[in-house]
Amino acid sequence: MSAFADEATRRDVDVSEKPRAEGSLPAVRIGICGLGTVGSGTVNVMARNCEEIAARCGRPVEIVQVGARRDNPDCDMTTLNVTREIFDVANNPDVDVLVELIGGTTVARELVLTAIANGKHVVTANKALIAEHGNELFAAAADKGVTIAYEAAVAGGIPIIKSLREGLVGNRIQWLAGIINGTGNYILTEMREKGRSFEEALAQAQALGYAEADPTFDVEGIDAAHKLVIMASLAFGMPLAFDKVYTEGISGVAREDIQYADELGYRIKHLGIARRTNHGVELRVHPTLIPQRRLIANVNGVMNAVLVNGDAVGPTLYYGAGAGAEATASAVIADIVDVARTLNVRPDQRVPLAGVTQASQGNLDDVLPMAETETSYYMRISAFDKPGVMSKVATICSDQGISIEALIQHEPAEDEELVPVVLLTSRAREAQLQEAVNQIEALDSIQGPVVRIRVEPLG
Ligand code: HSE
Repeated sequence: MSAFADEATRRDVDVSEKPRAEGSLPAVRIGICGLGTVGSGTVNVMARNCEEIAARCGRPVEIVQVGARRDNPDCDMTTLNVTREIFDVANNPDVDVLVELIGGTTVARELVLTAIANGKHVVTANKALIAEHGNELFAAAADKGVTIAYEAAVAGGIPIIKSLREGLVGNRIQWLAGIINGTGNYILTEMREKGRSFEEALAQAQALGYAEADPTFDVEGIDAAHKLVIMASLAFGMPLAFDKVYTEGISGVAREDIQYADELGYRIKHLGIARRTNHGVELRVHPTLIPQRRLIANVNGVMNAVLVNGDAVGPTLYYGAGAGAEATASAVIADIVDVARTLNVRPDQRVPLAGVTQASQGNLDDVLPMAETETSYYMRISAFDKPGVMSKVATICSDQGISIEALIQHEPAEDEELVPVVLLTSRAREAQLQEAVNQIEALDSIQGPVVRIRVEPLG
């Protein structure tokens, strides 16, 4: 154990002592790295609610150092001990808990590994770091007997990590499905409610500061895939498997598909879905038709929501702000308090917070290839308005064991040779559906690619 770990242990409570009055324990000393939106939100909320936070921890919590490249006018810099060199914080023997809010994966990984090597507990809001390097970081933390807490990495202020790890711990989780990217949800909501195109809605999201300057992570589903694997690892007790997630963004969703979905009684949402099957785990992020009557179908704008189905509790829904300075700070501070509370307990009796803490349940080593997953599908086909087209499409579907459950075809517009035909299918394996799509696209009476969007009943 390093000198720093010794120091951290020395500051733990001796539980053989009689209970002491609140506030008589030494303060838990926090070092924050990164003073952007979430960092300044954390500083502000900690200052505003310091009395409540200390009471809930059973000891004061003090920010002893902040590592930030530049000042942030959104918080009172005069109260902070700032260094421009973030590794000073990871190497500072007066810091018990390092709060990593710098983002990215390269420097952040090195920073967190340094903090762990120095015996510090870590709180992070960095989903990419946990999703891509979590297995390595958790192993390092376990070796040093320290905690990595990451509530703020998934769905901002919604306590979904705590719910999966603690509130639902008695359940076998069957599946979860979440709207876990606020920018994507805002864009789809604008397209539906205001009839905007994807490009217009994205520009609006950028103007409002929701989307990043490079919005690829938001609109191509990478941000959601990071969050999904973190939730799946806790729900199913499996390692983080970011490279195995099927990821499809919303940039291909067209206004008319949103309108047809409405006509059929569905909403299109960008979902991250993790499902346990007899053959392995489905991990997928893609636009999805969901029935309008589901609560989650009515989660709009930048809000996030996660639906978790446990065998004992049934479906449960968690809703709230998935981003924003103070909403995310709420989750960061919850982790700081959790870590502080564990320091009040004898080290061998602490509930581990890092990594995969549940026993693996079933055949979960295998993440299913997308071709093996099973859902229903929405298809939009551009067909020439000629006799026999529908019967050919129906025959192809039926040959693949796919039944057509609903169909929309309006009269073609004047002077329009092509007519959109919209289908909802029965559940089918992705591989069968893909074969049907290939055959439909090869028909002379069809033009262009078949648009297809997966459908989930979520019931
Ligand atoms: N860019 C993310 C979103 C916020 O739009 O939801 C932080 O995860």
